[in-house]
Amino acid sequence: MSTKDQLLSYLKEGKGSWVSGESLSNKIAVTRSAVWKQICKLREDGYVIQSSPKKGYLFQKAPDMLLPDEIREGLKTRVFGKKQIVYFNETDSTNTRAKDLAIKGAPEGTLVVSEKQTKGRGRKGRNWFSPSRGGIYTSLILRPRIPPNEAPKMTLLTAVAVAETLHSLTQLKANIKWPNDILINGKKIAGILTEISTEMDAIDYIVVGLGMNVNTYNFPDDIHEKATSIFIETGKHFPRVKLIREYIQWHEKYYEIFKKSGFEPILKRWKELSNIIGRKIMVEMIDKKYIGEVQDIDSDGILILKDNSGKYHRISSGDVTFM
Ligand code: BTN
Repeated sequence: MSTKDQLLSYLKEGKGSWVSGESLSNKIAVTRSAVWKQICKLREDGYVIQSSPKKGYLFQKAPDMLLPDEIREGLKTRVFGKKQIVYFNETDSTNTRAKDLAIKGAPEGTLVVSEKQTKGRGRKGRNWFSPSRGGIYTSLILRPRIPPNEAPKMTLLTAVAVAETLHSLTQLKANIKWPNDILINGKKIAGILTEISTEMDAIDYIVVGLGMNVNTYNFPDDIHEKATSIFIETGKHFPRVKLIREYIQWHEKYYEIFKKSGFEPILKRWKELSNIIGRKIMVEMIDKKYIGEVQDIDSDGILILKDNSGKYHRISSGDVTFM
């Protein structure tokens, strides 16, 4: 642990009481001026730490940043986020960064986070609006031992983890819209972009990217009507670190269920959290669109649609509009 990290953990241990400079320098075995230097660095990172020549230091507040140490604090996972959390203040796209890391051999559970994305990507080549510290922009590297055609299951599993996160930390009723949109009151609060690399008949890695609108209150004109955020829905600023920690915990929980018991329990929960079965929809794909009633989501995560002429279609990906 670096001197800065040690200092931070001793200050936090103080739990609202002053910690003397002397005791810190003794515990960490550095001079008092070295302690002061690190305090200045922590303040530059956005930590609020009071200082007094007589009393020492008082930890007051962590910054609203997705700093790896903050995410790790109290993180109850076995693998996800435990080995590597790669942090950016700004990057093009966390999915692009995660893919680069995966190619270089980054292990399963590696998490990439950024405060801002300059080229945040959505499905179908769309942009993902990623203003600084407005939301969560994160990508997780998975290396499941499943055939490539089962990769869509990881998107559905991720959607379940996101909806569970919102249910457990907020009072908001989050719904999943097939395959990967998370909606609140019919508006999109989060989206998932899954990217996969295969070798022969096996998956080399999957990157699951999550974009969640948390404290964003102003959206560009083209998505203004369709998008929402936790702030818009509740009128309250929400700590993003708490959300990301909860999300990786839920994600790991469902990933382990998947490895142990298969996709059935995930799909069951997905169906409970989605409102699509039995609904009349239009689904648009790159080259065609269908209108009909959703019969089911099958055991591979494929949408089964019965069109107006009674014909059945199996659809693996597309844009859904409720009719
Ligand atoms: C969608 O609904 O179209 C998917 C949006 C996915 C956005 C996230 S933000 C983090 C990760 N990095 C990206 O460039 N995209 C995903």
